[in-house]
Amino acid sequence: MIRSLLIGCGAYLPERILSNAELASKVDTSDEWITKRTGIRQRHVAADGELTSHLALHAAREAIAAAGIDTQEIDLIVLATTTPDDTFPSTATKVQAGLGLGHGAAFDVQAVCAGFIYALAVADNFIRAGQAKTALVIGAETFTRLLDWEDRSTCVLFGDGAGAVVLQAHEGNGSAADYGVLSTHLHSDGRERDILYVDGGPSSTGTTGHVRMAGQEVYKHAVSKLAAVIDEALAANGLSVDDVDWLVPHQANRRIIDGMAKRMDMSSDKVIVSIDRHANTSAASVPLALCEAVRDGRIKSGDLVLVEAIGGGLAWGAGLVRIGLPD
Ligand code: UT7
Repeated sequence: MIRSLLIGCGAYLPERILSNAELASKVDTSDEWITKRTGIRQRHVAADGELTSHLALHAAREAIAAAGIDTQEIDLIVLATTTPDDTFPSTATKVQAGLGLGHGAAFDVQAVCAGFIYALAVADNFIRAGQAKTALVIGAETFTRLLDWEDRSTCVLFGDGAGAVVLQAHEGNGSAADYGVLSTHLHSDGRERDILYVDGGPSSTGTTGHVRMAGQEVYKHAVSKLAAVIDEALAANGLSVDDVDWLVPHQANRRIIDGMAKRMDMSSDKVIVSIDRHANTSAASVPLALCEAVRDGRIKSGDLVLVEAIGGGLAWGAGLVRIGLPD
């Protein structure tokens, strides 16, 4: 059975840091409210002229270097974003050009905060089908460009950043002990569109629009839907929570992350948390957290990692990945 090995990852955050205190000087909020309700202490914000493709390219280059491959080996780029540089062409093709590549396929996927899980699933399925051998999977956002800075219920929650991983085809034996992506599980429910959306778009208003969210509604869906998809991922592989070395959750709210860990009866030191420093970076949230933990040596080759995310759509999903290369 062909498996997609995860052989390298990279992350990038814009230089500028916006603290809760600085935000509180511009909008009616406080460091105390934001920290207590979300766990966020600061977020990174892209500079004027710094685009999603620029963040993505930094992360991609680091992932390629970590994988130790020749860039020319890449024959697929799947980039998850809600904030493409332009309406078209895809941001993935801009990254492709930035890497000096003129072969293979490059395209974007749009599943908002679940975007990286969707992109991972798409690339994994291309590799399993034999249609690609070496894929770059990226989650990249300049999400702060979608914020209404007068809406305190949303503008305090999000940040900018990018994360990337390299997947490579490898012959596995089909068991849950295999390295690479063991499985991915995707869901969406378009009936819940109105609880998290952007009030603009090229076809509807001709404007980019701003994020609108019924926070408590999304919160309830997040808790129940993430729990269900985690159970689904473990059951599909005949695994239990004890087999999982690390949970790398979507970083939307510290209370959701802690609730998920508690429900799984998972010790908090097995959960990767970056929301305090990154806030919610939408499609970049999971790969940013994952790559930070790989960089600092917490996540090692051979570790089994459970990733999950939910966002607008609603769209949500989970995946199980054994990191690195088999001996
Ligand atoms: O990534 C996509 C997935 N997104 C999520 O998973 C987000 C899920 N939702 C959440 O994380 C939480 O619902 C929020 C963090 C968005 C909000 O927290 P909450 O505990 O649900 O607060 P709330 O919306 O119920 O608001 C409580 C109070 C309200 O005031 P009143 O009506 O009680 O007087 C709000 O007006 O807090 C007020 N409030 C604020 N106060 C200070 C809302 N935003 C702020 C703010 N600063 N920034």
